[in-house]
Amino acid sequence: MLKKLDSFAGVAGPLVVVVMDGYGLPENPVGSAIAEARQPNLDRLFASSPHIRLRAHGTAVGMPSDDDMGNSEVGHNAIGAGQVYAQGAALVANAIAEGTIWAGQAWQEIVGAARSGVLHFIGLFSDGNVHSHIDHLRAMVERAKAEGVKTVRIHVLLDGRDVPETSALDYVVPFEAFLAGISDAGFDARIASGGGRQNITMDRYDANWPMVERGWRTHVLGEGPQFASASAAVEALRAQYPGTIDQDLPPFVIAADGKPLGSIEDGDAVVFFNFRGDRALEITRAFVEADFDKFDRVRHPRVTYAGMLQYDGDLHLPERFLVPPPAIRDTSGEWFSKAGITQFACSETQKFGHVTYFWNGNRSGKFDGETYLEVPSDVVPFEQRPWMKAAEIADAMVAAIASGQYKVLRCNFANGDMVGHTGNFRAATMAVEAVDLALGRVLKAVEAAGGVALITADHGNADEMFELDKKSKQPARNADGSFKAKTAHTLNPVPLILFNASGDARLGLRQTADAGLSNIAATVANLLGFDKHPAWDESLLTLGE
Ligand code: 3PG
Ligand code: CO
Repeated sequence: MLKKLDSFAGVAGPLVVVVMDGYGLPENPVGSAIAEARQPNLDRLFASSPHIRLRAHGTAVGMPSDDDMGNSEVGHNAIGAGQVYAQGAALVANAIAEGTIWAGQAWQEIVGAARSGVLHFIGLFSDGNVHSHIDHLRAMVERAKAEGVKTVRIHVLLDGRDVPETSALDYVVPFEAFLAGISDAGFDARIASGGGRQNITMDRYDANWPMVERGWRTHVLGEGPQFASASAAVEALRAQYPGTIDQDLPPFVIAADGKPLGSIEDGDAVVFFNFRGDRALEITRAFVEADFDKFDRVRHPRVTYAGMLQYDGDLHLPERFLVPPPAIRDTSGEWFSKAGITQFACSETQKFGHVTYFWNGNRSGKFDGETYLEVPSDVVPFEQRPWMKAAEIADAMVAAIASGQYKVLRCNFANGDMVGHTGNFRAATMAVEAVDLALGRVLKAVEAAGGVALITADHGNADEMFELDKKSKQPARNADGSFKAKTAHTLNPVPLILFNASGDARLGLRQTADAGLSNIAATVANLLGFDKHPAWDESLLTLGE
């Protein structure tokens, strides 16, 4: 059980944690939608409420190095669990470096099946290290050859979202050369199909199953416009759809003499090589579920299927996985529940799993006393609706706070991140303004209830909407003088603001050198009058000392 603090009985009213997804603190105001946006509520908070900066990237959130940007999975894991675990990116890299991945039963079963069939790899084709890393794919292709697999087919999901927006050929061209180099009379490895990750296959949280269906038709059935190679496909599709960035490119199939090179057939083996689960679960279900009903699969090949990790431990999806996922234990959701605290979590579809599944250590089930509310997201390109569902989330939070039923409430406003990923500066500015407007309403409800709110973010995104030159830190320019749009997350810190309407003027925050997202859980515990769980990182709460 969490112990009560001697020094502080806890705030009387509700405790609200607001995650402004993708709201980093910019180093440079040029090209920052955060600096550009009109945000009177946040301006007031920064002027008059205690606030500090938190690390939200790199090793502070369990990524392999401090060159790795943060992302929503590792960020929400750290906030909810109050601890930092080595995350998928690091676990897979280590398993490859140490060779444990090859010794595992899952890899052996994949290779065993593939010796008499074809070995397919499907996944996000970049070095973004958010969902996947192309080096992991390369290592598996090399190993498959060494272990006697004869045919490898790769289905590439073009990124442009965790890496520069039109960088697909920077990955495709060298990889095609690598595959040509490693192929010989006894080994044939080729790219077989692909498409933009926001167009096919990588939907999440049941937001848009037709995306997954398009992916299935492309990778499995081999249906779609045919090209001689992936690089030819990317070039032709860019010419056909000018201005379309990589993540949105339509699907393509690589074929010879009109025949797809790599449709997926009975007896084949399939590895989905993303380590992150949110956008891997739907396609995994399409492969492994016998009674699947989300779309008509037309044909359901009997394959040996493995995920890079197990994406959902509660649902055992998938059953076969190459690397064990981080075993995230003792989350704040679990321990607050054990202390009898009622909890409310809300977001719109695009981030709903972030405040529930990621928050609770990648568990799809709820703890006792938790209530979840999902606001359905629009199914549109978000630069067309940058306000997204901020108003509806605020409505739900205001009602939940006013109901008096919940002691701890959390929500995620997706705008800064989802619109930030489009690379559209103007829309991202509006996204931040929509969050500020909604936040103002949530804070009024906190005030009326005599509560406290902690306002933070999981990582940066809207804070840098242009690629910055690595040395000068000034926005980089295209040949025509325009700025290069940036769609990825940033390395910037995020705010932690304490909005205090509890009537206890002592409450404050301390800035420590390594303060990060994993300090939030203990801070919340202290605000509730509890000591932190021993596994959690330190609290940042001060009581007027
Ligand atoms: C995505 O999946 O949209 C991006 O790769 C990462 O964004 P998120 O970590 O903010 O969800
Ligand atoms: Co994001």
